[in-house]
Amino acid sequence: FHVQRFENEPNTDFSRAENREDMKQALKDVEALFGADYPLNIDGKAQDSRSHIISRSPSSKETVLGTVASANRDQAEQAIETARRAWPQWQKIPADHRAEYLELIASGMQTRRFELAAWMIHESGKSWKEADAEVSEAIDFCRYYSLAMRDLVSELACDYPGEENRLFYRSRGVAVVIAPWNFPLAILTGMTVAALVTGNTVVMKPAEQSSIVAAKLMEIARDSGLPTGVLNFLPGNGEELGPVLVGSPDVDLVVFTGSQEVGLSINKLAAETVPAQLNVKKVIAEMGGKNAIIVDDDADLDDAVQGVVNSAFGYAGQKCSACSRVIVLKSIFDEFTERLVNAVESLVIGPADDPGIDFGPVIDQEAYDRINDYIELGAEECETIVSIDLSDRDDGYFIGPQIFNILEEDSRLAQAEIFGPVLSVMKARDMDHALKLANNTAYALTGGVYSRSPKNLKRAREEFLVGNLYLNREITGAIVQRHPFGGFRMSGIGSKAGGPDYLQQFMLPVNITENT
Ligand code: SER
Repeated sequence: FHVQRFENEPNTDFSRAENREDMKQALKDVEALFGADYPLNIDGKAQDSRSHIISRSPSSKETVLGTVASANRDQAEQAIETARRAWPQWQKIPADHRAEYLELIASGMQTRRFELAAWMIHESGKSWKEADAEVSEAIDFCRYYSLAMRDLVSELACDYPGEENRLFYRSRGVAVVIAPWNFPLAILTGMTVAALVTGNTVVMKPAEQSSIVAAKLMEIARDSGLPTGVLNFLPGNGEELGPVLVGSPDVDLVVFTGSQEVGLSINKLAAETVPAQLNVKKVIAEMGGKNAIIVDDDADLDDAVQGVVNSAFGYAGQKCSACSRVIVLKSIFDEFTERLVNAVESLVIGPADDPGIDFGPVIDQEAYDRINDYIELGAEECETIVSIDLSDRDDGYFIGPQIFNILEEDSRLAQAEIFGPVLSVMKARDMDHALKLANNTAYALTGGVYSRSPKNLKRAREEFLVGNLYLNREITGAIVQRHPFGGFRMSGIGSKAGGPDYLQQFMLPVNITENT
């Protein structure tokens, strides 16, 4: 499933002094822009709104990063109408020409990579490394989908004597993109550019918590020279705008990444039709996970501990791919847990702009409260193995790493997606039991196995039910093309981002037969 000519964008090497200096300078430059206002953009025009989103740094609650216009329902309807009007022209533009805009967006991001990373550090609480890798991923999505689209341009032929058959793809129409805050640049970019390159026009609704990063993407997209009305920027409150956007009969496609609860409600609302509606809406939804790593009794424990720590606590566990359950074979349970505890106790948590941290704050007050409720629940339901209390650090939303020993496999802590730095440990009698525990979840997104046993690795390939299975490797950080990303069961509807059949979902296949 290799797209010819595609190469992944390399991450910045922060062991080099000049790169560290560039990053520090970008953080300062961005700081000088704190407090600016960011408008909506509908039909190529900036628009203000009566209400605003005040974006604050999760590392320092008092620091206001900027103010973003928060769209109202009328503006949402205007954005849809604009996208509808712009669609006939846009879908006629040859696909390889549309693909060129993605390459321009990629170049814009490359030029501004330190600045974009700096905004993610400030607004999303990402560490330097996570923010930098995210810029690479966003660039990769643009370049990969650009090349993949070029490969899809040619019609597929299946001729018979006296009959010519041509299969090709048309765009669907108006796409609404509803994005999460945890990959504020990469996921927003990926979903948006996939919709654009396939000939759809877009209403882009970012998560409130990451509205400034989204505004920066909008700037870069606008600078690429996209025709007016093709991409409309609609930051605002999801609960207010979501029903207007998803419920509109003028929308043909909804592309969503976020929680299972919102994803399922989108799917339900999108299924409703009114008499004059042209299409049944297509929904592509990437939802949550309750991901497990199995540690076999012959695993390399140094690797396994490192992989579990990175997967569970990178970006404070706020990734749908994060490890939230580690299932350990009983003969090595005590040794593994002891090493895990040592590794976790030495993690450094602090403000995201400090290059020395392992992870920063959680995103906002709501996340802070929700995660702390789970930690309280864990203390009641489970045996506490590690609980690092950072409640005195009230400058930002800091939560220390928590590890619980699960005593009851159906307990809420073992089943709910917590989306924070909370890891559960479970003891398995044997590999049968480990796989049963791993699959005992509503989700099927990522999973991992650390093992030296070819037999057990083979079993995992066959029996561990997840969209992305990683063997002897951490389970976060999917790389475009190499690891097409996405799950099934309650983890998602649709094909994998950064994979060979992602773009087809954004289009309608049409076959033309001519009797010759
Ligand atoms: N693609 C991300 C990862 O693999 C999650 O969205 O971590």
